[in-house]
Amino acid sequence: MRLANKMLNLCISNQLSDEGELSMPNPTLLPAWQSLKDHYARVSETPMRDLFAADPQRFENFSRRFEDILLDFSKNRITRETWDLLMELARQAEVPAWIERMLTGETINHTEHRAVLHAALRNRGNQPILVDGQDVMPEVNGVLERIRRFSEQVRNGWMGYTGKRIRDVVNIGIGGSDLGPKMVCEALAPYGDPNLQMHFVSSVDGSHISHVLARCQPETTLFIVASKTFTTQETMTNATTARDWLLAGLQEEAAIARHFVAVSTNEQGVRAFGIDTANMFGFWDWVGGRYSLWSAIGLPISVYIGMENFTALLTGAHAMDEHFRQTPLEDNLPVILGLLGVWYGDFFAADTHTMLIYDEYLRSLPDYLQQLDMESNGKSVDRQGQLLSYATGPILWGGLGNNGQHAFYQLLHQGTHLVSADFLAPVHSQDPIGDHHNILLANCLAQSEALMMGKTEDQARTELQRQGMAAAELEALLPYKVFQGNRPSNTILYQRLTPRTLGSLIALYEHKVFVQGVIWNINSFDQWGVELGKQLCNAILPELKGEKAVGAHDGSTLGLLAFCQQ
Ligand code: F6P
Repeated sequence: MRLANKMLNLCISNQLSDEGELSMPNPTLLPAWQSLKDHYARVSETPMRDLFAADPQRFENFSRRFEDILLDFSKNRITRETWDLLMELARQAEVPAWIERMLTGETINHTEHRAVLHAALRNRGNQPILVDGQDVMPEVNGVLERIRRFSEQVRNGWMGYTGKRIRDVVNIGIGGSDLGPKMVCEALAPYGDPNLQMHFVSSVDGSHISHVLARCQPETTLFIVASKTFTTQETMTNATTARDWLLAGLQEEAAIARHFVAVSTNEQGVRAFGIDTANMFGFWDWVGGRYSLWSAIGLPISVYIGMENFTALLTGAHAMDEHFRQTPLEDNLPVILGLLGVWYGDFFAADTHTMLIYDEYLRSLPDYLQQLDMESNGKSVDRQGQLLSYATGPILWGGLGNNGQHAFYQLLHQGTHLVSADFLAPVHSQDPIGDHHNILLANCLAQSEALMMGKTEDQARTELQRQGMAAAELEALLPYKVFQGNRPSNTILYQRLTPRTLGSLIALYEHKVFVQGVIWNINSFDQWGVELGKQLCNAILPELKGEKAVGAHDGSTLGLLAFCQQ
């Protein structure tokens, strides 16, 4: 015990790095991590169905509520002891101090020398938040006010250059400048303005913008060019194509001012592109792309659902921020989800986590979360620049659960991989029709039950016998009819997908990712891994176009280039 304490002191003596950040050591050296390893060896095979049978209160013990959201995590491979050890891990990793620092603007993306402050964008309490000694709230509120005015103008009938009302709004952006606004506009479509058609162009594949433009008219289309840097190749290419299309239709340079606005941190770039900076909505270096939907990047959201609903989205996220900050670890939803992810990823060696969505409106949530999670925690170097010896962010994937049942769920139920899952479903449908919603919900509940309970050999045999199957045939079929079960999942139910609830759900996942990054001792706010491909693309493009002799490449790339040029 004394040794453990000594090790603990050694491990978690919070050194402050150059930037004043808390810096954690290798988490695998923490005593709680070591205890979890021993504990894993003892409990990893315990069937959850036995745990439920032994504890009639398991649901009450392992579920929590936040406003109208219920998180049921009782179908996880945890015992009370696992739970206590995971909480101890969070304490030893100093998660509470990290939360406090992140929400007060003291967390630093140290490889890019930037503050991390997206929570300020939804700081509805308006408490001062300082960056370099300056309160950022007046600026944040100033941009929100401009967003309000512009959104109201568009919704009240913003006129294009020829005096016709805007009907189509095309957001041009990629990554964080696309996935968040697109997901939220889809999710909150019941709150959307029926007079506006929203479109999102992201890929540089010309088919994407061609298909969107084919549905629009230059006179009635507004483009929002959204790019933090305003240098992203895909976005600039699409924006140029959109501008050419508009000019071909309206014939006047002056039309651009009525049909193009920009969202960016790069005023110079916006001006150079030809958009009047009076039509630019700014944000700040301290907003990471994948955390930016709360900023002016959310402009398409506020245009579509109105400022009141956009504010409700921010308020829901702020409420989750407050919950994250003030709630003890044991009751803290993002902390719980984060720790369970560490439990499966690092102790069960589960590589993937799936999002199983029983809500048509949230169909793009897995895409959004993929960037949030994988761009944040897909790292193999720690905060001190050392190569890691343990697993970090999972491969996150998923889709609409009901459709998945008839496609990929076979692997979840009987495959050889352990895949942890989050089920998400609303208790009330936005579109009540016949018995659809009851059937949808029943499917959702049945799937998590099936994954957990499985079907034993005895159960399968009894079922087949009841069907009157002959003994020899029965024994041959039996192995295929067994479900091992013990496949873990969380279920998140919410009453209705309102703007406020959605804001809370998104912030819940942002903070889950943060908790995991803290425990893994990685920088969740940079994304250097996306750079190499961009660099090589810049080298290949002139070669592909024949503007430059083909340089040195590996044999495969040379072969592919030659095939394209035939
Ligand atoms: O390439 C990755 C990335 O930098 C993301 O992090 C970001 O969300 C996306 O590209 C778009 O960047 P920008 O908003 O600067 O165009």
